[in-house]
Amino acid sequence: MHYTVSQVANLSGVIRVPGDKSISHRSIMLGSIADGTTHVEGFLEGEDALSTMNAFRALGVRIEGPHSGRVVVHGVGREGLKAPAGDLDCGNSGTSMRLMSGLLAGQGLAATLVGDESLSKRPMRRVTDPLSQMGATMRTAEGGRPPLHIDPVTHLKAIDYELPMASAQVKSAVLLAGLYAEGVTRVTEPAPTRDHTERMLRGFGVDVKVDGRTVSLAGGQRLKACDIDVPADISSAAFFLVAASIAENADVTLQHVGINPTRTGIIDILRLMGANLELLNPREVGGEPVADIRVRSAQLKGIHIPEDLVPLAIDEFPVLFVAAANAVGTTVLTGAEELRVKESDRIAVMADGLKSCGIDAQPTPDGMVIQGLGHLPGVRYDGASIQSHGDHRIAMSFTVAALRARSAMTVNDCRNVATSFPNFVELAQTIGFDLKVHP
Ligand code: S3P
Repeated sequence: MHYTVSQVANLSGVIRVPGDKSISHRSIMLGSIADGTTHVEGFLEGEDALSTMNAFRALGVRIEGPHSGRVVVHGVGREGLKAPAGDLDCGNSGTSMRLMSGLLAGQGLAATLVGDESLSKRPMRRVTDPLSQMGATMRTAEGGRPPLHIDPVTHLKAIDYELPMASAQVKSAVLLAGLYAEGVTRVTEPAPTRDHTERMLRGFGVDVKVDGRTVSLAGGQRLKACDIDVPADISSAAFFLVAASIAENADVTLQHVGINPTRTGIIDILRLMGANLELLNPREVGGEPVADIRVRSAQLKGIHIPEDLVPLAIDEFPVLFVAAANAVGTTVLTGAEELRVKESDRIAVMADGLKSCGIDAQPTPDGMVIQGLGHLPGVRYDGASIQSHGDHRIAMSFTVAALRARSAMTVNDCRNVATSFPNFVELAQTIGFDLKVHP
């Protein structure tokens, strides 16, 4: 599947992007091992979250939905999961595989987690190392890649783990295993990462302690079912925050967006670049802060992105590179080597795509240096034919880039947009994109 996208000057409208992917995954996982029935609203009906849902069905959990974002999870309690009959297919989703490896490590079940071509290349030792230290027995294919086989182990011991990289997935895997471990599990992160696991565990009644960069929980606790209202995903909203910033004439409002401070690096970075963003009607739903975000066109400027914001915007760099290409002056990103092990090598793939538009984008081992063109009227880069390498966020980022190309862009290999943002095309068209889908 590919898109063709032509430049437009005007974007406007009020839209709500789909539910947060991280929170959707966790709602199924925690709901499944809770006592009682968990009701979820605003669930992301994207393929990644559905992979998690199907995996828990295969583990014997009855789950109703999704029906218009509503899901009902009939929890089986902390020891109620059943051995799956076949492989658990995580599709494209690293979050499914890494969090489930932790949750399943101490269940006494044998399970094999498999993924698609992209996921099969991604590193899993970052979870198997700490989980093995806790007593789990896990095997991977060569180089620590999936498939990931979990042997039945019923006894885990708590560890005190210092994360070697800022990763919420690894932190979460260790904490979820810690629920089944003897003693108090402690995880210390090198920099703050998204804390949805900690927040949601508390919502399920688990005592989670946070002391600076260390999170701890005692094993043996039970989860009590609760209701979850999933906010719109700021990582999906990000495409339109950048689109409306770089379009000549834009005024777009994104409703009910999750603005958890561990996710708002995109807002901070765009503001440093001079974006015109307003957070309206801030409120809290089910332990997560939410607001409507109004964004209007602005002349962006290049910046050196502060390294402490990198983990807080980790999924937004593909589209932030597009913002940088449209900013006046140079943007420098450092400290973002994690981008090389996402759904694609996002440093290499974005630099290649930007270069094919005629933009000076120099990849570095841990980031990129981009010479922005600015977006004064008439200043435009070339339209190009872009390879997305099956990476949803690359495909959506170049769709946004097309707003300011002098000729139509072709964005190839867009099927995986459905993993995180199934109605991306429809919403983009609603606010004014000239976008056609070619199956
Ligand atoms: C996620 C954590 C991040 C992020 C991913 C979702 C999560 O991954 O990139 O899209 O839900 O915990 P890392 O932990 O690998 O940084």
